[in-house]
Amino acid sequence: MTELSKMILDKIRDVPDYPKPGVLFKDITPLLADPVTMAAVVDELAGLHQVDKIVGIEARGFILAAPVAYRAAAGFVPVRKKGKLPAETLEESYDLEYGSATIEVHRDAFAPGDRVLIVDDVLATGGTAKATVDLVQRAGARVVAIAVLMELGFLKGRDRVEGVELHSLVIV
Ligand code: PRP
Repeated sequence: MTELSKMILDKIRDVPDYPKPGVLFKDITPLLADPVTMAAVVDELAGLHQVDKIVGIEARGFILAAPVAYRAAAGFVPVRKKGKLPAETLEESYDLEYGSATIEVHRDAFAPGDRVLIVDDVLATGGTAKATVDLVQRAGARVVAIAVLMELGFLKGRDRVEGVELHSLVIV
């Protein structure tokens, strides 16, 4: 395990029975509140690839993706839940445990062929990441990789984004 992985795991808090009984929630707020760990995470993510745009996924993904974009001297593009973006959008829907979710990106968010790194806090089932990959590609850009702070390995989300390079700073 790397020094950075140890630092990250030390700042993630397990909250039992949230959001429902039997679920052990991985709370990243202690990490966000720690400037040393946060800076190390942002530097690591910003150094992974040279890209034109960093895509952040609402809402917790924004918290990491925006400083990564600044650090990487790249543009920031938000992928948002349906109905939040004001101009013309592309949308993708994906299945949740109960029902489905829809996310959107602005149709003109990218220049043709832009190189893109997708950043989120957690990869769980991989549904959100896969839908984001599809959105970015449909908008005419090229997904260089997906980078997440934490991968929930037991949910096998990695399989949903097979074929796309995936960086997980920790796998739990
Ligand atoms: C969480 C997380 C990822 C997504 C991962 O977001 O921030 O975006 O779920 O899950 P998946 O791999 O199973 O798709 P959530 O929808 O809870 O929204 P939030 O960031 O607004 O809390």
